[in-house]
Amino acid sequence: MKKPIRVAVTGAAGNIGYALVFRIASGEMFGKDQPLILQLLEIPVEGPQKALKGVAMELEDCAFPLLQDMVLTGDANVAFKDANWCLLVGSKPRGPGMERADLLKDNGKIFIAQGQAIDAVAADDARVAVVGNPCNTNVMIAASQAKRLTADRFTAMVRLDENRGRALLARKAGVAIDEVSDLFIYGNHSPTMFADFTHAKIGGKAAAEVIGDEAWLKTEYLPAVGKRGAAVIEARGQSSAASAANALVDHVRDLTTVGQVHSAAVNSEGRYGFAEGVWAGMPVRTTAPGTYEVITGFEMDAFAKSKIALTNDELVGERETVKDMLG
Ligand code: NAI
Repeated sequence: MKKPIRVAVTGAAGNIGYALVFRIASGEMFGKDQPLILQLLEIPVEGPQKALKGVAMELEDCAFPLLQDMVLTGDANVAFKDANWCLLVGSKPRGPGMERADLLKDNGKIFIAQGQAIDAVAADDARVAVVGNPCNTNVMIAASQAKRLTADRFTAMVRLDENRGRALLARKAGVAIDEVSDLFIYGNHSPTMFADFTHAKIGGKAAAEVIGDEAWLKTEYLPAVGKRGAAVIEARGQSSAASAANALVDHVRDLTTVGQVHSAAVNSEGRYGFAEGVWAGMPVRTTAPGTYEVITGFEMDAFAKSKIALTNDELVGERETVKDMLG
């Protein structure tokens, strides 16, 4: 039997948390032979703490063989203690009349504190994946607080956009989802992100050729992927939760499975025309469990470059708003 790993989840009693923790405990994220201890963080307030207890009761009632223990807490230093994976889902939703800049700053404070706590108490091999929005900027803030853990340990999730983009292409082409490959997400997890259909493949052939409708790809497909989150809110009255949890399962499972090629938001290091030091979605290949390299070989045409410039501008603007929060 393998040694159990410690997996910290923040916002564990929230919508995504509720759709997520059962899948982690069942072995979908780290494998059916990997025992684990869940360390669940919620804000130290009666309501969320009580809800967290309820989630833990249900986890117990599932009798998952892999779930060896649970820690329920309102203290980040307890939640991240010796954690091998820190999944940062919890953040503050945008309130009525709240400006985006206020949201950035309010959430930024959470990620300063959590970045510091992770750096202080998490395991030496800790990996951090951020879902809480604005996730690209939140992960940059958390990473900037870390003195012990290197920036490559911090990723943010653009996998939901990749999954949405693949599903939409498959539907348009009338093929099974497995036929769609090489669709990577560049930039911010926001409507400005660029789902790079120019290198995507359907059944091994260029997607643009198979679809045969460039105008649709540029003017309907891209906005549809970018605004899919808003469309789900409009239909469901709540933001994507099950699909977001599913995307995080994919994100982490692919980051721990050698050879997987997928999209993740990582420290750009100036690649693909992004500003140095912003966290931007791009294609990565997992080289060892939890370790990846950025795939740098894709040549971008003028259209792709213009889309990347747009999403880069947004990332740079977000960084400017939180510049006082960067450690
Ligand atoms: P939610 O509001 O249902 O749950 C968030 C939970 O986080 C709440 O239970 C809250 O008490 C908790 N929380 C807030 N601050 C916390 C802190 N400092 N420490 C620990 N817990 C804290 O929201 P939901 O639907 O679960 O979404 C969570 C986040 O994920 C949101 O920011 C949302 O915008 C984002 N999201 C990101 C996606 C992506 O693709 N990157 C996709 C969908 C949502």
